[in-house]
Amino acid sequence: STGEIIWALISILLLFTVSGCPQECRCNTALKTVDCRAQELKEIPTKLPYETELLYLQDNKIQVISHTPFITTPWLKILDLSNNSITSVSSKTFHGLHHLQVLNLTNNFIQHIENKVFNQLQNLHKLDLSFNRLLSLPESLGDNIKNLTLVAVHHNLLQRIQRVLLDSLSNLEVFLFKDNPWHCNCEVIGFRLWLESFLYRGGTIDEIVCFSPEDLKGKDLFKVPYEKYRTCSAISSSFLLANIKHFSSDPKGINKHLHHDEHGDGSHSDCETKPKPRPVSLRHAIATVVITGVVCGIVCLMMLAAAIYGCAYAAIMAKYHKELKKVEHLAPAIEQGSAEEKEPLDSSLA
Ligand SMILES: *[C@@H]1O[C@H](CO)[C@@H](O)[C@H](O)[C@H]1NC(C)=O
Ligand SMILES: *[C@@H]1O[C@H](CO)[C@@H](O)[C@H](O)[C@H]1NC(C)=O
Ligand SMILES: *[C@@H]1O[C@H](CO)[C@@H](O)[C@H](O)[C@H]1NC(C)=O
Repeated sequence: STGEIIWALISILLLFTVSGCPQECRCNTALKTVDCRAQELKEIPTKLPYETELLYLQDNKIQVISHTPFITTPWLKILDLSNNSITSVSSKTFHGLHHLQVLNLTNNFIQHIENKVFNQLQNLHKLDLSFNRLLSLPESLGDNIKNLTLVAVHHNLLQRIQRVLLDSLSNLEVFLFKDNPWHCNCEVIGFRLWLESFLYRGGTIDEIVCFSPEDLKGKDLFKVPYEKYRTCSAISSSFLLANIKHFSSDPKGINKHLHHDEHGDGSHSDCETKPKPRPVSLRHAIATVVITGVVCGIVCLMMLAAAIYGCAYAAIMAKYHKELKKVEHLAPAIEQGSAEEKEPLDSSLA
């Protein structure tokens, strides 16, 4: 019996090492959950169960992430690394996580994320990068993250966001931007137009308050009149014009403007003529000249026609009068004739 007990102990030990739950974590094999919250961990524990789908690592002190730490847990769906001390992530960090749906990196010290850092996460739905120290976002978060519906970048140090990045997030529903020092200069036009189109498509955002330039500090981006961008360089206005083209090709484009006038200041509709007022007024001038010419021409033709008609009328009238006089000379004879013709009729009636 002692041999049986030893055998049982050995098999239990074996089972433990195979299923492998790290000492600091609680593992639930049925729910495929590993909970390592608030354990003062400095690194991501190794020997995580292979079939883990939910991994909670928040409220620790993880600073450095070694290469491909999740290569042994390819079935992860939710990875929570919030409230740690992470300073950087690379594409190697998330290598192999093809099933990951939620990645929470909020409340860390991330300053920079490299281009296409989430390239492998083709099933990512929610990405939380809020409460970090991000100074910029890359051009692309990844080629395959078409399923991304929520991105949170609130409470970072972002001044701008590239239009290329925004346009790549085609299925986005929620984008949180609050508490960033947004720079509302010419470059912001592309961002703002994207936002307006995003809102129109039913997207959700929070507030975007300008931090610079000085005269726009504290102002809601949507309340900045388009007038402010009048002096923007050709690059920005081509951005703007490209977007106007995009808007007008949309059959509902008019509604879009109406929709935003509700919470804007009504100056949006001006943006189509104001950025380049000169060619427009030149075109106006040419049009005016052409119209004036045409009108004058018509009036002249009408006067000419009237004159011709007058002359012709006078000539015809003169001729008519002459003929009338001739007729008057002949008239008595005709009247006599007709009187004779009438008599038999009258007599027949009587
Ligand atoms: C962050 O984690 C620490 C422990 O490392 C904890 O004391 C603190 O309450 C956590 N903060 C939040 C906002 O959860
Ligand atoms: C990320 O975690 C924080 C708490 O640490 C939570 O408030 C937030 O909603 C989470 N984000 C997502 C996208 O689940
Ligand atoms: C988006 O998610 C669905 C399932 O939720 C998946 O079938 C599809 O492949 C994903 N899209 C991409 C581009 O991977």
